Amino acid sequence: MAALSLVAVVAGMLLQEAGVADAQTLRAGYYDQTCRAAESIVFDEVQKAWNADRSIPASLIRLHFHDCFVNGCDGSVLLEASDGQAEKNAMPNLSLRGYEVIDRAKARLEAACKETVSCADILAYAARDSVRVMTGGYVYAVPGGRLDGTVSRATMTGDLPPPTQRNVDQLAQYFTRKGLSLDDMVVLSGAHTLGVVHCGTFSYRLTNDADKGMDAAFRNDLRRQCNNNPNNVVALDAGSPYGFDISYYGSVLSNRTVIESDAALNPPKTVARVRQLQANPSLFTDSFAAAMVRMGNLRGCNPGKVRVNCRRIRT
Ligand code: HEM
Ligand SMILES: *[C@@H]1O[C@H](CO)[C@@H](O)[C@H](O)[C@H]1NC(C)=O
Ligand SMILES: *[C@@H]1O[C@H](CO)[C@@H](O)[C@H](O)[C@H]1NC(C)=O
Repeated sequence: MAALSLVAVVAGMLLQEAGVADAQTLRAGYYDQTCRAAESIVFDEVQKAWNADRSIPASLIRLHFHDCFVNGCDGSVLLEASDGQAEKNAMPNLSLRGYEVIDRAKARLEAACKETVSCADILAYAARDSVRVMTGGYVYAVPGGRLDGTVSRATMTGDLPPPTQRNVDQLAQYFTRKGLSLDDMVVLSGAHTLGVVHCGTFSYRLTNDADKGMDAAFRNDLRRQCNNNPNNVVALDAGSPYGFDISYYGSVLSNRTVIESDAALNPPKTVARVRQLQANPSLFTDSFAAAMVRMGNLRGCNPGKVRVNCRRIRT
């Protein structure tokens, strides 16, 4: 009898712990009761930033991706470290303006509803709103309820896929390891319809005559744009760098992609899906939204609490 009730107590404790985890289950409209204006404040800040600078949505979408792939979507990409070795220090500083958009949204959210809306959720909403401003109104529901993590180290960014990977199966492992699929990778890579890349990242493709299959005229074009300067930037999607559209997939099919991980989508394995997306803009947008939600569900192992300042761990 005593043994039985001990089992019951232990089971009860386990259930309670599961309950804590459940309390963190993400759901759409998460702040409807606690901070009604949460999502509209984020949208307003993204829209203002986009009005001032057309390259902002790319930064915000990339920030959310990097946040989620390094120990789950926990806002760790926003943190600063006293030794200057946080996650953000491991990535090119292209996204700096993106950080300021998050800071402005957070300041307004703290004023409206103190210590309620997590930085990780702000990033997830801001990525969605980036798609919204670029498409002139396409909106998808983003589940909220993430907590902000307490760890951010440059050395933890090894989970991010390398742009030098040409093998589609090896590239896909960076996604399947996270519980995402090869198809998610093909669809999410469509984010490279936006934004830029530093010449230093791919200049080896311009000097190597044996490069597997980059269009020759395109390579000359890149050579001219880079002009031997690794700090120059070129569009990831030469077709339409500021358009959220399917022209990226056209670039893949015509061997006009800048980084090898994009070129990796051309070989037999994924080319059928690439053709399908390239032929159907609304299929791309719907698929992208669904994959972003799946990516936005990635969990880390040390969720903390809602931060007050997205750059600082709350003590
Ligand atoms: C498949 C694996 C991926 C690789 C290897 C990769 C690699 C890269 C690289 C090297 C850059 C340019 C960085 C620089 O030179 O400054 C870049 C930019 C970018 N990436 Fe990816 N990426 C991948 C997947 C993704 C995903 C899943 C997303 C979002 C859903 C994304 C969104 C972006 C955006 C929007 C930019 C442009 C940023 C800007 O212009 O500010 N990427 N990526
Ligand atoms: C970003 O990096 C470039 C070159 O690496 C540097 O010149 C520039 O000052 C940096 N920008 C910021 C805001 O740190
Ligand atoms: C792209 O490159 C591959 C070889 O890697 C080649 O088979 C294909 O014909 C090329 N496609 C175009 C449109 O240039």
